[in-house]
Amino acid sequence: AFSQLITQKLMASNAMRLFGISDVDRLWEVNMENVTVLDNLRCVQLLSSKLRDKSTTTKDFMLNADRLMAVLAEEALSMIPSVKQKQIQTPTGVFGGLEDTGSTEKLCVVSIVRSGDILQEAVRKLSPGIKVGKILIQRDEESPDKRAVLYYKKLPKDISDCFVLLVDPMLATGGSLICATEVLVENGVKPEQILFVNLFSVEEGLENIQKKFPGMRVLTLSIDEYMNESKYIVPGVGDFGDRYYGTT
Ligand code: URA
Repeated sequence: AFSQLITQKLMASNAMRLFGISDVDRLWEVNMENVTVLDNLRCVQLLSSKLRDKSTTTKDFMLNADRLMAVLAEEALSMIPSVKQKQIQTPTGVFGGLEDTGSTEKLCVVSIVRSGDILQEAVRKLSPGIKVGKILIQRDEESPDKRAVLYYKKLPKDISDCFVLLVDPMLATGGSLICATEVLVENGVKPEQILFVNLFSVEEGLENIQKKFPGMRVLTLSIDEYMNESKYIVPGVGDFGDRYYGTT
């Protein structure tokens, strides 16, 4: 994990130098112990390459995003606390495997609307009956720091007893995620009870959320290089929701 962190820092600073970014000496400090990155899976590289390609049509973006989210949702559901080690008797021997000992009653998937809904549906397909929460946050495009504003929330009443999968495909500044996590914390959820599940992130966003909620874990497919002046992830995929829903 440490060498991965160093490689990512070098990639980020090289990219910053290449693109003339003034912040070249600013290296983000991310505690990789709480971050799982799935970018070594070949299927993740294949499917996410299609999303990154700017010539990909809305239809192909949707198909590949849904396939990618199914992989991510499977991994997320293997990381919940009710999954324990188990000795499995196979027809020919013994295998040290895993088993989900829990029920969906103590599990909740909360989406940051609208792109988070796509990932939420991927989780719901694999875990039918899972409790669902929704939080709508929008960036205030007029404010200089693109401040996150809460518009709507609907959460299960017993959310404080649940392990929460908080889902949103893009982690840029972390503004929306911090706002959504604050809503969960106000409703009795501890950061340790949250796994943030995401496709594309940047170190700055990871550092920002870890400063506020050091106990929260993150599952991401990729830590990209940096954010541009419009706070979009580079290389990223552009606006995820617009490309998925064809609202570009
Ligand atoms: N949201 C997106 O959809 N894309 C980004 O690059 C950052 C935030």
